Amino acid sequence: MKENTARELERLFSLEGKVVYMTGAAGGIGAVLSKKLASCGALMAVGGRHLDKVRELAEEIQREGNAAFPVEVDVSDLSSIERATESIVKRCGKIDVLITMAAVNKRVPILHNDEKTWDTITGINLKGAYFTGQSVGRQMVKQRSGSIINVASYNSFMMLGGVGIYGAAKSGILAVTRAQAIEWAQFGVRSNALLPGHISTPLTTQLWTDPKRSGFLLDRIAMARPGKPEDLTGMTVLLASDASSYMTGMFYVVDGGCFAGGQPWDIGISYE
Ligand SMILES: NC(=O)c1ccc[n+]([C@@H]2O[C@H](COP(=O)([O-])OP(=O)(O)OC[C@H]3O[C@@H](n4cnc5c(N)ncnc54)[C@H](O)[C@@H]3O)[C@@H](O)[C@H]2O)c1
Repeated sequence: MKENTARELERLFSLEGKVVYMTGAAGGIGAVLSKKLASCGALMAVGGRHLDKVRELAEEIQREGNAAFPVEVDVSDLSSIERATESIVKRCGKIDVLITMAAVNKRVPILHNDEKTWDTITGINLKGAYFTGQSVGRQMVKQRSGSIINVASYNSFMMLGGVGIYGAAKSGILAVTRAQAIEWAQFGVRSNALLPGHISTPLTTQLWTDPKRSGFLLDRIAMARPGKPEDLTGMTVLLASDASSYMTGMFYVVDGGCFAGGQPWDIGISYE
């Protein structure tokens, strides 16, 4: 690569010196992206409910020669959200990027569902992201800069059986993203939603290990394979970095061609 090309790319996409706070960082997608962002120069504040897990992740990142520290946070508890934000600001003086990754899911059809499941899923996936955004947003508005990446889902738009509550929460995330974008653009704070398609992680093991359900899903993915957490790296770096300086209030899908229509019909003629 030419030297000036490398310099320009580095200037656009570098996360050098940026403090990136991710909730749910020890999960399938979170752990991979935390390592990738740290290797792009970010100082990762890896947040999670279980301190031992995020501590282990932070140590792994440090062993790779990059920077990270653990943050204990339960996003279903507003006082825990506040404590986490305060501890990061106390340690680093700022938060440049927030990634609301924490989520849960339970696949139950509407007629079999109950209030407790509704409260748990929306409490973590929607209320948790909203109040984490409020807490970190307060700091970003004060510092007059910041980028928020709210992790939504393919299910923000398209349904699968049994994910009505999860989908409702992930649809709500898009409204939260737009609200943050229009209220905070004047303060230099951007907010965008990242919509992963079907990614193979512990959250989706149930789907990929069941031949009937994985066959159903593969038919709906043009690239005919599950996504890997690594597949989300490019979009995440773009949204976290200054390369997305004029992008706010929008959603970005990384789905191997699900929205496009999945695999083409067999019309008895080769597509080659
Ligand atoms: N895997 C997929 O196919 C897929 C598709 C679309 C969207 N997503 C979204 O991507 C994100 C990561 O998903 P994943 O597949 O890595 O799932 P995962 O279950 O592996 O990770 C989720 C993480 O959130 C954490 N978490 C749960 N409740 C929490 C709480 N109260 N406080 C703090 N942390 C909490 C979990 O401990 C876990 O580490 C989620 O927002 C998910 O909805 C995943």
